[in-house]
Amino acid sequence: MHSMKLELRINSRAYELDVDVRKSLMDLLRELGYTGVKHGCGVGECGACTVLVDDIAVDSCLYLAVWARGKNIRTVEGECRDGKLSAVQEAYVEEGAVQCGFCTPGLIMTSTAFLEKNGDAELSREDIKRGHAGNLCRCTGYQTIINAVETASKK
Ligand code: FES
Ligand code: FES
Repeated sequence: MHSMKLELRINSRAYELDVDVRKSLMDLLRELGYTGVKHGCGVGECGACTVLVDDIAVDSCLYLAVWARGKNIRTVEGECRDGKLSAVQEAYVEEGAVQCGFCTPGLIMTSTAFLEKNGDAELSREDIKRGHAGNLCRCTGYQTIINAVETASKK
């Protein structure tokens, strides 16, 4: 096994780990207990594994853990602070944008990055759809998800 020392932060908590250079960031996060990071397709198609790397949304199944050296990773677990849901999480609940929930953590991270980047702009439903094109949901038909992002953008 080829392993490397890896220092990174996950939801602002510092870690120093020995990591197999072939391991994906998705597998590393899940092994550390961040199981909100979902293993869907494993090949960059579904977005269920989306996390933020220095505030940019990435498919963690396609991102090697060692590339995260020195970076801050945000997962859905870190978005709830002091028992309080983030504005995006709250909006998903309010709009009923969750059915089976498998896609939800990845979508919430995509919505979070999208709104942190574009939240000050006037957003159309088309803009929101384009911004979430990398995340698949088998259950909701997407309308409630778009409603949730619209609601969150007004918070
Ligand atoms: S599990 Fe990563 S994109 Fe589907
Ligand atoms: S709620 Fe089931 S896949 Fe989206």
